[in-house]
Amino acid sequence: MQNFKKYFPIFANNPWLVFFDSWASAQKPGYVIDWVKQYLENDYANIHRGSYDLSERSELLYEDSKKKVADFINANSRVEISYTYNATYAMNLLATSLARSKQLVKWDKVLVLISEHHANVVPWLILKEEIWIELDFVMLDDNYEIDFEDFKKKLDDKVKIVSFAYVSNVTGTIFDLPKVNEILKKMKNRPLFVIDASQAIQHFKVDVQALDCDYLVFTWHKIMAEWWIGVLYGKKELLKELRPSFSGWWSINWVKKDSFQDAWLPSKFEMWTPNLNWAVSLLKALEFIESIGGYETLTNHENELVAYFLEKFKKYEDKIELIWPKDEKNRVGVFSIKIKWMNQWDVSDFMSEHNICVRAWHHCAEPFMTEYPKTATCRVSLYIYNDKEDIDKFFIALDELLNR
Ligand SMILES: Cc1ncc(COP(=O)(O)O)c(C=O)c1O
Repeated sequence: MQNFKKYFPIFANNPWLVFFDSWASAQKPGYVIDWVKQYLENDYANIHRGSYDLSERSELLYEDSKKKVADFINANSRVEISYTYNATYAMNLLATSLARSKQLVKWDKVLVLISEHHANVVPWLILKEEIWIELDFVMLDDNYEIDFEDFKKKLDDKVKIVSFAYVSNVTGTIFDLPKVNEILKKMKNRPLFVIDASQAIQHFKVDVQALDCDYLVFTWHKIMAEWWIGVLYGKKELLKELRPSFSGWWSINWVKKDSFQDAWLPSKFEMWTPNLNWAVSLLKALEFIESIGGYETLTNHENELVAYFLEKFKKYEDKIELIWPKDEKNRVGVFSIKIKWMNQWDVSDFMSEHNICVRAWHHCAEPFMTEYPKTATCRVSLYIYNDKEDIDKFFIALDELLNR
């Protein structure tokens, strides 16, 4: 198994660290860290209205990052990419802009999955409180996949938005979104199809054209860039019609004392001083992924780790519940476990004493956690820098815990 740890300084600086919390936020390669430093030392200046060389150099890097992101998700054009701060911000911006543009009005219905991260629940709940939309939850089946019977039942004429995660951050299920799209396509008035790809994009290719989604959001700190940059993707013709719910300096064409005009795309949704060093960090994170062999490497490495973890886990099946789909093809490397007689916080505290970082509680998916596993879980999430030795250390600690 290839050693990817050497690319990540955090492991040289913390030699005992076993990092299994990448689904909360991924570690950063030295390549990204060094480039951000180099950028700040050599090229940094605010962009857009500076005609001097430094500003133009920064602008070029910013545009390069946009082009790279557009290629990465197979968008038609870079103007379909707007940078936000993160996925939560992107979803809030989208929801409130849909309301402001009257594309979502009283009694319109939004459908989400019961397993959604709160970032794809609360923005709609706010609109429920404020403009009286309805929010309904599509259930999962016994295998933690979309319950398509339930989906079809709830998909009535009032539904204007279907907003689903691509991958559950609790179970690791890769939801069958192509099938969702097939169903939506057949409707006379197709609702808008929104995807939260925050736990997908770091594992496999997300192709917005193949998915035929209208909007897609994700966050970059989970894919090895720095925190504080996210993406709102939208089809160009839809973004043109959408009015941002708030505005400021870069999102206008002109301002008078009593009126203003929205800017063209993509500036319309980037109303602030842009997150320049973060944009550089994501450009470099994507270059890093390419340099190690792209998604193929990420996926093969992860699959090998998943198979190894599962083999080891067999011994514990009667003591520990694993909350995830049985079908190997439809999941990625996260293990939400529940030791039946224990508080999951105690499990994560115990792991922490062994330098193993895992995450306990509801994983910001409370509607799901109260409905299905019924309590908290302890989440072990894998990424490119993990290896079999990390998994061995985890199971040695687990044995010690269970033998207490
Ligand atoms: C599925 C999903 N959506 C959205 C988010 C929110 O991401 P951010 O905090 O970067 O906005 C997360 C974070 O864990 C997530 O797992």
